[in-house]
Amino acid sequence: MKVTCPSCGLVGKVTFEHVYDASTKVVKIRNLTKTFGRFTAVEALNLTIFKGEIYGLLGPNGSGKSTIIKMLCGLLRPSKGSAEIFGQQLPCKPMMQKVGYMPQDTAIYLENTVHENLQFFGGVYGLPKDILEKKEQEMLRFVNLQDWRDSLVSTLSGGMRHRLSLACALIHEPSLVFLDEPTVGVDPELRALFWGYFESLAEKGVTVIITTHYMDEADHCSRVGLLRKGRLIAEGRPTDLKQQTQTQSLEQAFLSLTRGNET
Ligand SMILES: Nc1ncnc2c1ncn2[C@@H]1O[C@H](COP(=O)(O)OP(=O)(O)OP(=O)(O)O)[C@@H](O)[C@H]1O
Ligand SMILES: [Mg+2]
Repeated sequence: MKVTCPSCGLVGKVTFEHVYDASTKVVKIRNLTKTFGRFTAVEALNLTIFKGEIYGLLGPNGSGKSTIIKMLCGLLRPSKGSAEIFGQQLPCKPMMQKVGYMPQDTAIYLENTVHENLQFFGGVYGLPKDILEKKEQEMLRFVNLQDWRDSLVSTLSGGMRHRLSLACALIHEPSLVFLDEPTVGVDPELRALFWGYFESLAEKGVTVIITTHYMDEADHCSRVGLLRKGRLIAEGRPTDLKQQTQTQSLEQAFLSLTRGNET
């Protein structure tokens, strides 16, 4: 069923109240810290994320969101602390088969076609040929790139490349997905469709960890974690954070919580 969110106007298959499985921990982070030289990008982070959640990592530019995601995807080695995914201590290469990652800077091949990129990413994850064909069709429909299947990525617009990058991250049906600003440069209609799709993934038990600067989107997360200068300063359901700060919007709640943590 298509519905329109009364508060933000997002149209899509949105449920507003997310039900997730709080008995199954998918990500468990303890004291996770990342330093670059003398600079601490992520400081003593503790976080537990459950099956079927859409967990939003929010925070100003440079607050450490992408660094956290890169550590959880095994692309950056933590300086301190530990992280578990599906009960396995990281780094754990086989576990990465169950993980999808859409980086903030799209990592697709410009001199290849849309089709070739999807085949490549599906192949890396070992999808059998018949399933890969089916998934490619589904992903092309989802990101609305059917007519561009045989086009070189270098000829696509920025938003289209972004859409392809999202499709490449999801093609192998991961159980845990990291999406680093997946809707930047995406038009509003498609943005709403993306969120409908994320919600349908969560309903199937997929855990989605997402970063965004759009507070209307963050409102659709099951829980959000607010970061500032590499530290988690608040965490909770969007409605609870608004109540806690006695504000009407997540944006106001965010500003109020950030001001309360100025150092
Ligand atoms: N490889 C690196 N070497 C040195 N400093 C780094 C490196 N990667 C990130 N940083 C620093 O760590 C901090 C956190 O960066 P990060 O990319 O995680 O922020 P972010 O919250 O994702 O920001 P944005 O909203 O702009 O994407 C920044 O100050 C950044 O300059
Ligand atoms: Mg980032």
